[in-house]
Amino acid sequence: MRSNLEQFKNEALGAIQSAESASRLDELENKFFGRAQGEITKLMKGLKNISLEERQASGERLNQVKSVLGAAIIKKRDVLENIAWEAAAETERIDITEPALPIIKRGHSHPVTVIQRSLEDLFTSLGYMVLDGPELESDYYNFTALNIPETHPARDMQDTLYIKGHKDWLMRTQTSPVQVRAMQKYGAPIRAVVPGKCFRNEATDARHEHTFYQLEGFAVDKGINFSHLKATLEAVAQSLYGPDTKIRLMPKFYPFVEPGVRGEVTCLLCRGQGCRVCKNTGWLEIFGAGLVHPNVLKEGGVDHKVYQGFAFGFGLTRLAMLKYGIDDVRLLESGDLRFLEQF
Ligand code: DAH
Repeated sequence: MRSNLEQFKNEALGAIQSAESASRLDELENKFFGRAQGEITKLMKGLKNISLEERQASGERLNQVKSVLGAAIIKKRDVLENIAWEAAAETERIDITEPALPIIKRGHSHPVTVIQRSLEDLFTSLGYMVLDGPELESDYYNFTALNIPETHPARDMQDTLYIKGHKDWLMRTQTSPVQVRAMQKYGAPIRAVVPGKCFRNEATDARHEHTFYQLEGFAVDKGINFSHLKATLEAVAQSLYGPDTKIRLMPKFYPFVEPGVRGEVTCLLCRGQGCRVCKNTGWLEIFGAGLVHPNVLKEGGVDHKVYQGFAFGFGLTRLAMLKYGIDDVRLLESGDLRFLEQF
């Protein structure tokens, strides 16, 4: 039995070594270890036919053979798997010299949109609604309701694009008309900002464009006074240009506010030292503002003896030009990708 076993072991090991595929190895495993017909299984069963003294030694020996063959199969399976893996890697190899597919470019926000969104975020955090209104506007909302009667010279401050054949319709010259629209719709108290496109009949040049963007804002409530306006605008300026930014307010006439001011901020380029952009004043004019005129509250259906309000208007286009150092306003509406791709 002993020499037979030795021979069996050597032959079995030889067969395992020379197996060329995983399926051949499976076959061998079944041949040796198969439950019913496996050769080792048979040998194990044969033990019960020999004498007790021999059985112990043979059993031990048989167990050794069993574990040697088992280990050889595991090792060989590993080798065969590696070979198969390498062969697959060879046939599935990626050709890194192949030309790439065209990249689909993602767009991004226009510089004016970036400014608009950051102001919308700021004002919503202060409890303001964000509203919009029509770009094709009536003469009434754009002017009359804002305390600019038909024959008033203030209409000449804004060169207006009228709709041919419809003398009461125009392209809104400002976002202020939404003040009255909003008060009529929502009543008081109210706080809202209105970003949007405006139009004027301009002879265009580097500083004038027929289409531009504003952000209007207003708050109407009981007991609103000038210090509320000032604090709000200071918060806006500091959120735009940093905490050490100052504002200053100079009297200016706007028909829909009384008193009215033009608002300036510390020049963001020279921080107040004086430079080409601020024309050496250290200040930049970026908004108009004031306390809402009682006539405007009346048009909005709000009792001006109970409620007061402040209003302001930022030039979003101008803010974008200042932020990004854009020196020709016409680029913003040009749709020129060489310009737009810089942002
Ligand atoms: N609508 C004005 C303009 O286009 C800007 C403005 C000034 C808006 C003063 C206001 C304000 O609300 O109070 O020039």
